[in-house]
Amino acid sequence: MQIPVESWYQAIFLRRSRRSFIDRLPEEEKLERLEKVCREFRPFEGARAEFLRNSPEKVFKGIVGAYGKITGAPYYVAFIGSSGSPNVEEGIGYTGEGVILEATALGLGTCWVSGFFRPEAVKEHIALADHERVYAVTPIGYTQKGFSVKEKIYEGAARSLKKKPLEEIVEGTVPEPWQAKAIEAARIAPSASNRQPWRFVVRENSITVRLNSPKDSDKYPKRLDCGIAMLHIELGALAAGKKGSWTPLSGPNVARFDLI
Ligand SMILES: Cc1cc2nc3c(=O)[nH]c(=O)nc-3n(C[C@H](O)[C@H](O)[C@H](O)COP(=O)(O)O)c2cc1C
Repeated sequence: MQIPVESWYQAIFLRRSRRSFIDRLPEEEKLERLEKVCREFRPFEGARAEFLRNSPEKVFKGIVGAYGKITGAPYYVAFIGSSGSPNVEEGIGYTGEGVILEATALGLGTCWVSGFFRPEAVKEHIALADHERVYAVTPIGYTQKGFSVKEKIYEGAARSLKKKPLEEIVEGTVPEPWQAKAIEAARIAPSASNRQPWRFVVRENSITVRLNSPKDSDKYPKRLDCGIAMLHIELGALAAGKKGSWTPLSGPNVARFDLI
């Protein structure tokens, strides 16, 4: 599927994590559009998104604690990866963020949730192969315009308004205009607990995404967050009229974007 650059790039600046949904069903054509994007936007082997016309109530139900409580969403999307595939975590981040930005462009609310959800409940809605795992989910639905009081409390818990300044996340040479645009788009990408575990290494005609430290966790893989930032980098570059391609890297380096 070709990336709809204009609408996804604009959606980067509109998207915020939303956790309280209202009692209004999204229109059928919006659901069909999301189903199509889930089916067709599969740039990484072993990573896919599935739109589920099921209530995610049980998926989120019973979760204690402020961070992660999602209420009232009519539908959800599951982000599923094949554990044997190389680069599956960054693949899930990149692929899933495409779906999140599409939903945002359609005026719907979303929230990446990788920690506080029940994979067993997702398995009641969709059959998974033995080697597959649900890495994360997002609720899908309408939200009220402003943030509810409850959402503001969760926002505080996740410190989500604060994005790191460029000095903390960029290394290397002075960016060219396309690189500045790409990095600004990546700087505001969502990440688990808003930890922003990335560094962007700028070289002539390239940007490398690197982990901020080698320490990582199975439950909240930093490479998944980095996959989200990768899509934002590419959208920033495309919005500046520059095409590129990704080379997967290993160790603390996640991937390098080179101009074509
Ligand atoms: C991979 C990933 C996992 C996340 N998991 C959760 C979660 O379990 N519960 C939750 O409430 N928010 C979760 N979030 C949302 C983050 O807290 C949120 O993206 C961050 O605070 C930045 O806020 P923003 O999305 O409004 O920019 C997750 C985000 C990402 C990218």
